[in-house]
Amino acid sequence: MQLLEVEASAPGKVILFGEHAVVYGEPSLSLALQRRTFVSGQPVGEAFTVNGFPLDPNFHSYIERAVKQHWKLGPLRLQTESQIPSGSGIGSSAALSVATNAVLLRLQSPDTVPLSEIAHAAFLTEFDTQGRASPNDTTVATAGGGVLLAPKRLESPDLEFLWQIEREERTWNAHRVKIPELPLVIGVTGSKGKTAEQVAKVRRFVEKSSFARDVVKDIGRITMAGVEALRKNDLRTLGDLMNRNHEHLHTLGVDTPLLETLVQGARKVRGTLGAKLTGAGGGGSMVVLSENPDEVKVALEKLGASAFLAPASRDGVLVKP
Ligand code: PMV
Repeated sequence: MQLLEVEASAPGKVILFGEHAVVYGEPSLSLALQRRTFVSGQPVGEAFTVNGFPLDPNFHSYIERAVKQHWKLGPLRLQTESQIPSGSGIGSSAALSVATNAVLLRLQSPDTVPLSEIAHAAFLTEFDTQGRASPNDTTVATAGGGVLLAPKRLESPDLEFLWQIEREERTWNAHRVKIPELPLVIGVTGSKGKTAEQVAKVRRFVEKSSFARDVVKDIGRITMAGVEALRKNDLRTLGDLMNRNHEHLHTLGVDTPLLETLVQGARKVRGTLGAKLTGAGGGGSMVVLSENPDEVKVALEKLGASAFLAPASRDGVLVKP
């Protein structure tokens, strides 16, 4: 019997290490945030609607793509709501893709849908909507907690293998990483960086410059050093690595003057261990690791950002029923 309604929600994410480099198969390490996107779907009505409006590819590009890819039945009434600022590098589109696909798949399935199936479906939605993308954001939004993507499957008592995702010539292996409570603050610039544009910009650089390819490789090494620092709960080293990762992102050209001001401003606060831009850049957000998160928040706000303390979420996608 078909369900009359399904509700799903998925978290935003913060990338601690490895954005952009992950597109070229280097590892990345991310955390799910407690801010979520909620989607509900009812297979009723005469036409597809989203929040009462007709489904429109210009306004609902991710949802429209997901419906085209993964929905075989008649009209749907969808409702969405989000606590994640859009276009800010903290995973709003991935959370929407994951929650939407979770609703679509569950409505068509007699049983609960495996997480790996939701993750694969949502990655396809992101990839086809955004152009080139890694499965980083959709994997974290599905799995929750800490997630390491790596080109090879890694064996370690601290890592739990989740699933493998392939696309064109690349393979990413998703692992769950245990993450201690981290005092993180996120600063949102309010200017929206377009992920596809930033990814294309880095691609042009990487294709023509062996220097850029070396930078990408070194980001991969920094990410794995970050995993080790987390395992040892060595926040000082973790912060240094975040700073180094930021310098590389600056070199790749995805930093902006405001992001740089926020990163430098956060580093001036006593107790700050590290700061970097997070996500695609070109606007968007930055993240700070600090023993003094409240002061960092105030400092970032004074510099023109909106800022919030960012505890991690253990929960990935949640689906009812
Ligand atoms: O800015 P966001 O949240 O879309 O993050 C993009 C992360 C990139 O590594 C730049 C792209 C990707 O698909 O992994």
